[in-house]
Amino acid sequence: MPDRFLIFLLAALIATAQVHAPPPVKGPWMDKALSPDRRAELVVEQMTLGEKLQLVHGIGMLGGRELDAESRELLTSRSNGGAGFVPGIPRLGLPDLNMADSAVGVGHAAARSRYSTALPNTLALAASWDPQLAREYGSLIGRELRDQGYNMSLAGGVNLMREPRNGRNFEYLGEDPILAGRMVGQIIRGIQSQRVMGHIKHLALNDQETGRHIANVKLDKRSMRETDLLAFEIGIKEGDPSAVLCSYNRINGEYACENRWLLTDLLKNTWGFKGFVISDWFANYSATKAALAGLDQELPGPGYFGSELRQALESGAVPMARLDDMVKRIVRAEFAAGIVDDPPVHRVVDVVRGFEVAQKVAEQSMVLLKNSGSLPFNSAALKSIAVIGMHADAGVLSGSGSGQVDPMGGNAVATPPPVTNPGSPQTEGEAIWGNVWVWHRSNPLKAIRARAPAAKVQFHDGSDKAAAAALAKSSDVAVVFAVQLAGEGFDTSLTLPYDQDALIKSVAAANPRTVVVLENGNPVAMPWINDVSAVLEAWYPGIRGAEAIAGILFGDISPSGKLPASFPRNESDLPRAAIVPVPDGRLPNPLAGIGGKLVPGAQIEPFDIDYSEKLEVGYKWFEAHDKQALFPFGHGLSYTSFAYSDVKATADGVTFTLRNVGKRAGTEIAQIYAGLPAVAGEPPRRLVGWEKVTLSPGETKTLTVRIDRQFLAIFNEAMDAWELIPGDYRFSVGGSSANATQFATVAIQ
Ligand code: GLC
Repeated sequence: MPDRFLIFLLAALIATAQVHAPPPVKGPWMDKALSPDRRAELVVEQMTLGEKLQLVHGIGMLGGRELDAESRELLTSRSNGGAGFVPGIPRLGLPDLNMADSAVGVGHAAARSRYSTALPNTLALAASWDPQLAREYGSLIGRELRDQGYNMSLAGGVNLMREPRNGRNFEYLGEDPILAGRMVGQIIRGIQSQRVMGHIKHLALNDQETGRHIANVKLDKRSMRETDLLAFEIGIKEGDPSAVLCSYNRINGEYACENRWLLTDLLKNTWGFKGFVISDWFANYSATKAALAGLDQELPGPGYFGSELRQALESGAVPMARLDDMVKRIVRAEFAAGIVDDPPVHRVVDVVRGFEVAQKVAEQSMVLLKNSGSLPFNSAALKSIAVIGMHADAGVLSGSGSGQVDPMGGNAVATPPPVTNPGSPQTEGEAIWGNVWVWHRSNPLKAIRARAPAAKVQFHDGSDKAAAAALAKSSDVAVVFAVQLAGEGFDTSLTLPYDQDALIKSVAAANPRTVVVLENGNPVAMPWINDVSAVLEAWYPGIRGAEAIAGILFGDISPSGKLPASFPRNESDLPRAAIVPVPDGRLPNPLAGIGGKLVPGAQIEPFDIDYSEKLEVGYKWFEAHDKQALFPFGHGLSYTSFAYSDVKATADGVTFTLRNVGKRAGTEIAQIYAGLPAVAGEPPRRLVGWEKVTLSPGETKTLTVRIDRQFLAIFNEAMDAWELIPGDYRFSVGGSSANATQFATVAIQ
């Protein structure tokens, strides 16, 4: 073909493409030099009422009974396939909002044959106590959201672990508000650094799954502000999320999404939150009340913020100014996040980068709970290794529900165990939530074989305890992989399911050099703890979990994780021996399917969850009541050991000397706890700071940890303000809440 013709053809193609590409929107609000606030004001002035109303709710979910034809078409043709979709306004240059769950990686990938990195779960990340790593974790998720065409993340779950059996603990960050708040803040900052909108959830006190739609949580304001809400306050201050998601439950009688004190007085006025509040999916129950309380966008669909909100505006029940504020908050966040000026462009996900980050997080999050000498293995000396346990020859377990990542290549376990986990109380009616127990294709048996090529490594799935014990007996060491299933819509239990406790006991009886590796998303009881030689808490370790486990077992990596939650000995040591159940006869989830409207006549009166332990969450409960946890908050062993000395404290910080007194390099997370003056009426101690440091053998370092004054304050409900109580503050420093044995006292006026 003559060149001239080719050139003509090319020119014609380019011209055609330009004709079809939408013309760049012109308007003062597109001026990047203006502030997001100013740009929002300018663009809202241009909007019709219909356009404003379009932005304050999603259009529903495929499969929803109440989906009209237009919404179905939009969801099918324009949505990116994530959990939430809000059509934009092309004439004003405002993009569709494509939201995806992404707690431990971008969800819903399988539906469009995409790939997402399955990171270790966030409770595991919390065990690294590493804010910089949390930011890297968030950055990876934000990058993959953009690569897949999403512009809003639904990661950022930070509900406090008041209930160790909460099915969603795996996707939160533990029991301490300062650790959880700082870590979630960095996850959000990381996500938003990739120019997608981030958010934080579930505000507030949605701390168990059982009956989450109809629970009414009772807790005084001081306790809320110093525990669950402190995690949100820190997370919002450090993360500056675009959005906050309000939860299903009631708080002291008011639904979270209709709770004016929570959403407007506290979040928007006291904390100065400038973003927008979205409902959890079907967590909105009204038009006027919710709009006036401070809800800005209803998801997934127009349950109430469609025609009912329009009527409320026309009647004046909801002032037009409130609608303008709702819309301004939404579009302001879009300008601030960069999704208007720099919309995502589809790109192949960087799988290798994902593997690197996943493995790094797994290695830094695993917690060596016990080690009486078996670890690290010496691959040259080991002749035979028994690898025992459910699916340890196939993959590593992950948590389920909206915090799940679709597995690369499909579930590594073709027929996963039944959805009903016999060890845990089910949330009636939500057991069909569709949770599937997914093992990711990171293979512990293979990873161990790769690290011990000269050893005979044999596998038994543990279904026959006697046979598993016989294999252990004939091997130098036995490694038992034990799993605890957890997920959204369920709560779980402290007891390992499927009779794994008995399996561990019989293997340990056959071989004293038995090492247990736990794959779980919440604390578990260990009746066999005295029978085994070592226990490694691997959590849900993600797509490179097996490699990280092998690396630690064979000593390539010295474990450095510390528990972000107390491991109780048993249920009777907890504030509530059993999870607060849904009373008989009540519908745990009164919503009709996808429409989001209540089932006419459904039983929706709430049941109470009274957090009578108040301030005493986790280790604070154990210490206040002289109970010994099986493994305390902040506990974690290394392959070396550390000595603390010369602790000095001032009102601004604590200085101490740390020495590596072992034979190999290691990383210590040195923790600082404060005991407030007795008159403060607080639990014995609280975490107020920490420092993570790596030292070579014999190395000594003097460290100073600055203490944020707010972390020493109490919340004075009468003054509605934080207050620093004058008196003596006793700081303790150490490698866990239970062995912070170096003290220094400071008088603070
Ligand atoms: C779910 C969860 C929430 C999730 C949302 C979208 O019910 O509570 O965490 O982001 O709906 O899937």
